[in-house]
Amino acid sequence: MTLIDGFDPASPEALTNPLEYYRWLRDEHPMYYVEAYDMWFVSRFEDIWTTMGDSTLGLHGREVTHMNTSQLVVHNHGAVPPDRADQVAGFPSVDPPAQGTLRGLVNQPFRPGAVGRLEAWFRDMVRTELQDVLAQGTFNLTDALGQWAARTMARIAGIPPETAPRIRELINDASDQTGDPGHEFDPTGMGEIYQLLLGIVGERRAAGADGTLPFIDKAISGMFGGRPLTDAQIVNQLMSPLAGGVETVPKVAAHGLWELSKRPDQLAAVRADLAANAGRAFEEAARFCGPAQSFHRTVTERVEVLGETLEPGQRVAFVTASAARDPREFADPDEFRWDREITRTLAFGQGDHFCMGIHLARMEGRVLLQEFLAVVEEFEIDEANARRTASTFQQGWDHLPVVIRAYRDLGGRLVRPEPRG
Ligand code: HEM
Repeated sequence: MTLIDGFDPASPEALTNPLEYYRWLRDEHPMYYVEAYDMWFVSRFEDIWTTMGDSTLGLHGREVTHMNTSQLVVHNHGAVPPDRADQVAGFPSVDPPAQGTLRGLVNQPFRPGAVGRLEAWFRDMVRTELQDVLAQGTFNLTDALGQWAARTMARIAGIPPETAPRIRELINDASDQTGDPGHEFDPTGMGEIYQLLLGIVGERRAAGADGTLPFIDKAISGMFGGRPLTDAQIVNQLMSPLAGGVETVPKVAAHGLWELSKRPDQLAAVRADLAANAGRAFEEAARFCGPAQSFHRTVTERVEVLGETLEPGQRVAFVTASAARDPREFADPDEFRWDREITRTLAFGQGDHFCMGIHLARMEGRVLLQEFLAVVEEFEIDEANARRTASTFQQGWDHLPVVIRAYRDLGGRLVRPEPRG
């Protein structure tokens, strides 16, 4: 019997235990209206699968694709916010076809071929630097893996590598959007990143944008609406990829390693052939503990969706974290099974706004699991001291202390770090 009698993603109860609330939504209210936000919540896998990517429904990402509560309590009152393509806003907040054109100016480094060419560099960095990290004996696993994801995005964006930790800190702070006064989107932090990128774009333009930094150079030489983009308009296109590329992969990979550590038989099975199995385990981790909770769209015209009439200006939340645990799609969805047959995934979205970084995410996730498990022979997560950021947007174990009992150094010798503390 459930005692839940309502859902507000920002309530302390839902933030503490979102999965209970998602189960309630799926079973009792698959299309749930929250008046305070003038918003519909769609929670079943099949319903999201069929509606999120259906461009004929007029559900667009023209407001921010994840609004925090202070934005949601301001209703549109039947008016449809204008498409911001004419302001050349960041492509996640722009409707197709302009969204596709703008995305096409910055997506070259995230295509499969480009990601493939990055893999050896990424693996080498992780393999070499992991040794110093492991020698510490105990450390925050999410942080450790996150530094390499941040460094990769810094390389792609031409940001000096030593600035990568600061970028990661600012992006993590900004995504902590619980809606509480102290936990709102922090424009100051993002302003710092904006200014940094503005400087890099200016330098690339002055130096002739020769195409060696395609993330930026292609946007400098490209056109939109018959005109070249200004530096500020280019930076608008860079912000989301940078944010998406920094904070997601480490949360999934670190939590995936935690789940494996709790199941020695699965850990052994993955280790048995890391080259073949690590990618599959990462895919299950993206389903089981993908940080993103929901993505938002705005209704642009009256439309029937899943038996309800949606009015212009209302919002729709596709609760992809709920879809990932829907037993109608996944057998025993609350079980972590590294080799689960995943035939359809919503972990990376669906439709026009489908994740631009999926190939990079999969490559990084696979390599992180491979390199860690190849040398770490015994480890455990200090669960008592693990901390999860509660957020309506990106839930995740930001602080995941790991204790390394035994690992191999680059010469193959077994090292047992001294326990600290
Ligand atoms: C495990 C890692 C990741 C997960 C689970 C993930 C998930 C998602 C999801 C669910 C969306 C859909 C958003 C929406 O519909 O509004 C999305 C969009 C996006 N992701 Fe990822 N992502 C990951 C990694 C990355 C990486 C590494 C990048 C680096 C570029 C990235 C960049 C983006 C961008 C730019 C969008 C917006 C696309 C658009 O609006 O056209 N993501 N991601």
